[in-house]
Amino acid sequence: MVRVAVFDTKPYDRQFLQAANRGYGHDLVFLEARLQPGTAALALECDAVCAFVNDDLGAVTLARLAAGRPRHVALRCTGFNHVDLQAATRLSMTVTRVTAYSPYSVAEHAVGLILTLNRKFHRAYNRVREGNFSLDGLLGFDLRGCTVGVVGTGKIGQVFGAIMAGFGCRIVGYDPYPNPQFTAVGDYLPLAQVLAQADILSLHCPLTPETYHLIDGRAIAAMRQGAMLINTSRGGLVDTKALIAGLKARKLGAVGLDVYEEEAGLFFEDRSGEIIDDDQLQRLLTFPNVLITAHQAFFTQNALEEIAAVTLENIAEVAAGRPCAHQVCPPPV
Ligand code: NAI
Repeated sequence: MVRVAVFDTKPYDRQFLQAANRGYGHDLVFLEARLQPGTAALALECDAVCAFVNDDLGAVTLARLAAGRPRHVALRCTGFNHVDLQAATRLSMTVTRVTAYSPYSVAEHAVGLILTLNRKFHRAYNRVREGNFSLDGLLGFDLRGCTVGVVGTGKIGQVFGAIMAGFGCRIVGYDPYPNPQFTAVGDYLPLAQVLAQADILSLHCPLTPETYHLIDGRAIAAMRQGAMLINTSRGGLVDTKALIAGLKARKLGAVGLDVYEEEAGLFFEDRSGEIIDDDQLQRLLTFPNVLITAHQAFFTQNALEEIAAVTLENIAEVAAGRPCAHQVCPPPV
């Protein structure tokens, strides 16, 4: 039986992991604490740790884990930008992730942000409940005929492009590693042209040293006047300072974010009774044309079932010494 410390557990994690674990029988130790250097000791008697997007998997945490029994970090997410892979390799730790789970969950959430920002459902909902049936300020535009730019045309970007093509949008994409399936819905262009042509720009690439602050002041300056920017990928893709400047200058027409550079200490928790010290986030929340959700794009029943199943299978395969197709480190053979 594999003993697994499941960090950053929320009630829904427990629900879906416990249901999927009926087929595995791993010994799951659910911990509410986020994984970080100070909490790594909670896992010392476990064979594996199961971590999420905002857990700290830097060199110090990994070294503390490696001082005990854990030899496997099983990420229950797709992105692995928060893992120090060099340290993991040095410490002979295996890192696995959930390479793919319902790309529809994230793509559909991005579409939801676009529709809400465009047709202002959030404002209409509140107005009508208060008996205010005025339409002033709710003016939108037809999506049909708009140009939608997709940066990162992998699994999620491709599904997103296909949905937007269904609205009658023209789809243009940028990806250094083109996806043949994407060409069925859109055309590849250099990034500069995607930025210049898109009425709506949606980010679907991973956060890497190359993509950090991909959308900075220069990129925003190169975008169309009044363009809408959607980020459901990783907060670090967008320079928040430049984003605020672009909004203040009325250059950006609307911004939808499911991720935020400094989300780690904030998202996934109820902070409604607290004073939030993050002035940039608070400034963003004052714009009427900004919509922020707290990293919920993945949050569908289908995705959570898949994440739980793949994570537990990864744990079983690594424990049995079998090759695991979802290994990040060492790379799968
Ligand atoms: P994927 O690996 O299928 O696709 C990513 C694409 O980005 C690849 O085609 C890759 O070639 C491309 N890419 C790499 N570097 C690039 C660059 N410099 N410029 C443009 N494109 C580049 O990944 P998938 O499953 O589509 O996920 C995309 C991202 O979505 C993940 O990396 C993750 O950060 C984010 N995500 C967010 C979730 C949320 O709940 N908000 C949930 C799941 C994923």
